[in-house]
Amino acid sequence: MKIVVIGGTGLIGSKLVSKLREHGHEAVPAAPNTGVNTLTGEGLAEALKGAAVVVDVSNSPSWEDAAVMKFFETSTRNLLAYEAAAGVGHHVALSVVGTERLLESGYFRAKMAQENLIRASSIPYSIVHATQFFEFIKGIADISTAGNKVPLPPVLFQPMAADDVASAVGRVAVGPPVNGTVEAGGPEKFRLDEVVRRYLAARKDPREVVTDPHARYYGIEVSERALVPGDDARLGETRFETWLSQPTAQVPSTKPQPAA
Ligand SMILES: NC(=O)c1ccc[n+]([C@@H]2O[C@H](COP(=O)([O-])OP(=O)(O)OC[C@H]3O[C@@H](n4cnc5c(N)ncnc54)[C@H](OP(=O)(O)O)[C@@H]3O)[C@@H](O)[C@H]2O)c1
Repeated sequence: MKIVVIGGTGLIGSKLVSKLREHGHEAVPAAPNTGVNTLTGEGLAEALKGAAVVVDVSNSPSWEDAAVMKFFETSTRNLLAYEAAAGVGHHVALSVVGTERLLESGYFRAKMAQENLIRASSIPYSIVHATQFFEFIKGIADISTAGNKVPLPPVLFQPMAADDVASAVGRVAVGPPVNGTVEAGGPEKFRLDEVVRRYLAARKDPREVVTDPHARYYGIEVSERALVPGDDARLGETRFETWLSQPTAQVPSTKPQPAA
């Protein structure tokens, strides 16, 4: 089956392409550096020729409110139009658990706009809502740091390995469209402050996490259960402690992370 992975060179996309190929699918990574740009439409018609499924795991290079909204609206509109023309039978998109509860954030308003365009389109679809990646925890610490302190609210948090996110998205991509949302989460529930504290300690990072129920998460107030999935979520296998002990758990990212 030909499966085009939009954002197939990114963190989740590159893992997803490998997994799909391991299972014998023709997985085609599509991103600006493979000649496909969903913002302009460049390369899309050619890339989608003969594709049965398109998986969108792209992300906006900028998370400024207007820029991120423009990215997800324009790229999703373009993608859906080119998919309709190419006869694609399944559009899969990766979004975030709790998106509908986090609309105080411009990033989540943009993800919601992306989801609404998908729901309104004529193409059968599946939206995968994943919890925060373990790989994203450093980004949460960095954005929350003030001096040597990292104030964070003790809300429930159920992060998962990027590898498990890619597996969950891959399983959905090769299955029938659900025309709805499926949730994926990590195998364990923690408190946000606790996870970041453990991450920094494991990395011998001297910053101190301060538990503060009024602290903001990526600039917004989050309630106790805003970031965790429901009981039907598909759970990843990788435990936080196992991931922390792997050398690949080092996150080399230099760019700011999205408010996910
Ligand atoms: N961070 C989290 O914890 C979290 C949790 C749940 C869901 N998510 C969602 O997961 C998705 C993927 O995140 P990620 O961290 O894997 O992203 P990432 O590593 O930043 O990768 C983004 C991908 O999008 C591509 N891209 C950027 N602009 C494009 C354009 N105009 N046309 C086509 N492709 C373009 C990039 O290509 P280049 O490299 O060539 O620029 C790259 O392949 C996001 O939609 C995010 O909302 C994130």
